[in-house]
Amino acid sequence: MKTYKIATIPGDGIGKEVVPEAMRVLDTLAELDGNLKFEWEILPWGCDYYLENGEMMPENGLEILKNFDQIFLGSVGMPELVPDHISLWGLLIKIRRGLKQTINIRPAKLLKGLDSPLKNPGEFDIMVVRENSEGEYSDSGGRIHSDADEIAIQNAIFTRKGTERAMRYACDLSNQRSKKVTSATKSNGLSHSMPFWDDVFHDVVADYPSLDQNSVHIDAMAAYMIMKPSEFDVIVASNLFGDILTDIGGAIMGSIGIAPAANLNVSNEFPSMFEPVHGSAPDIAGLGVANPLGQIWTGKLMLDYLGYARLGDHLLEAIEYSLVQGIKTRDLKGQATTKEVTHTIIQYLKTKLE
Ligand code: NAD
Ligand code: IPM
Ligand code: MN
Repeated sequence: MKTYKIATIPGDGIGKEVVPEAMRVLDTLAELDGNLKFEWEILPWGCDYYLENGEMMPENGLEILKNFDQIFLGSVGMPELVPDHISLWGLLIKIRRGLKQTINIRPAKLLKGLDSPLKNPGEFDIMVVRENSEGEYSDSGGRIHSDADEIAIQNAIFTRKGTERAMRYACDLSNQRSKKVTSATKSNGLSHSMPFWDDVFHDVVADYPSLDQNSVHIDAMAAYMIMKPSEFDVIVASNLFGDILTDIGGAIMGSIGIAPAANLNVSNEFPSMFEPVHGSAPDIAGLGVANPLGQIWTGKLMLDYLGYARLGDHLLEAIEYSLVQGIKTRDLKGQATTKEVTHTIIQYLKTKLE
C-alpha cells in the first residue's frame, strides 16, 4: 500500500465546493484499487486567511508545502474584499514560482457527452504546454509619475533556459502523441517574440527532426482554436498566451468549469500542484451548482503523474458517463448540482471496479 501525503488548499469561492468533491472521487478510486491511499491535509489558506492574518499563507508556507508529495488546489480570489494582485501573488503565483513549477500542462479535449458551443468542433484533443514561471508575469515594473503623466511599466522577463525548458517539454510530449507541435508567437509585435521566442523554438526543434512543427501568431491561433481546433495537438506558449489559450480551450469544450491543469516541478525536487484552469467564480459561489469536473479531471492529471494512469483512465470514463447521462451543471445547460455530478461519477466507478 502506497500512501501519498497531499497538501490540500481549497482556497476561495467555488474552490471550497469542488475540492471536497474531487477528494471524495479520488478516495473512492484509491479504495477500489486497494493499493494506494491519499492522506489529505487541509490547509485553510486563501482570502479568509488573509482577512484574519494579513497574509495569504503563513510566512513559512512554502517550507510547509515541501513536506508533501503533491498539492491539490481549488482556486484563489475574492476580488470584492481582497485585490487580486495581493491574493494571487500571495498564494497561487508564489507557490508556482517558489516551488519551481515551471511547466503547466492544460488539456482541452472534446469528451463524450460534451456539447461544444462550436457548430463543427471536430474531434479535438489539444495539450497546451504553458511556461509557468516567468515571461509576462513578472514583478518587475511599477507606476511612476501621477495623474495625466502616469506611466505603468510591466516588464516581461524571458530566460533562454525557461523558454527552452517549456519547448523541450512540449516536443517530448509531441513525440508521445501525434508528433505535431505548434509554437504560439507574437513575432510581429513583441520584442520577446521577435526574434527571441522564435529563435529558441528554431534551436529546440532542430533536435526533433521527426516532428511536424510550426509557429502561429497568437492572435490567429486564438481564432483557429475556435475555427479549427482539431488541427492542433501540442501547443507551446508563454505564460500569458498559455493562460488565454486555455480559457478558450475550456470554452470550446463547453465550459471553463471543465478544464484541468497541472503545475509541474519537472525535476521532482519539490511537489507539483494540481488545480483546474477556472477561478473562484464569485458569481456562483455558495450556490452548490459549480461544475466539479475541472477539479475532478485535475485529479486524473494527479493520478497520471503519480503513475496510476489506468485509474486516471477510469476516472475520465466516469466523467464521460456522467456527461452522456446528462448529469450536467448549469454552465453546461443542465440542472444538476455539484454533488449530483460527483455522486454519478462515484456510482459509476463503484459499479465498474467493485
Ligand atoms: P472564473 O473562472 O472564476 O469565472 C469566469 C466565469 O466562469 C464565471 O461566470 C464563472 O461562474 C464561470 N465558472 C468558472 N468556473 C466554473 C465552474 N467550475 N462551474 C461553473 N461555472 C464556472 O474567472 P474570473 O471571474 O475572471 O475570476 C474570479 C476570481 O478567480 C478572481 O479573483 C480571479 O483572479 C480568480 N482566478 C483564480 C484562478 C486560480 O486560482 N487558478 C484562476 C482564474 C481566476
Ligand atoms: C490561471 C489564472 C491565473 C494565471 C491568475 C489568477 C493569476 O488565470 O491559473 O489560469 O493567470 O495564471
Ligand atoms: Mn487563467
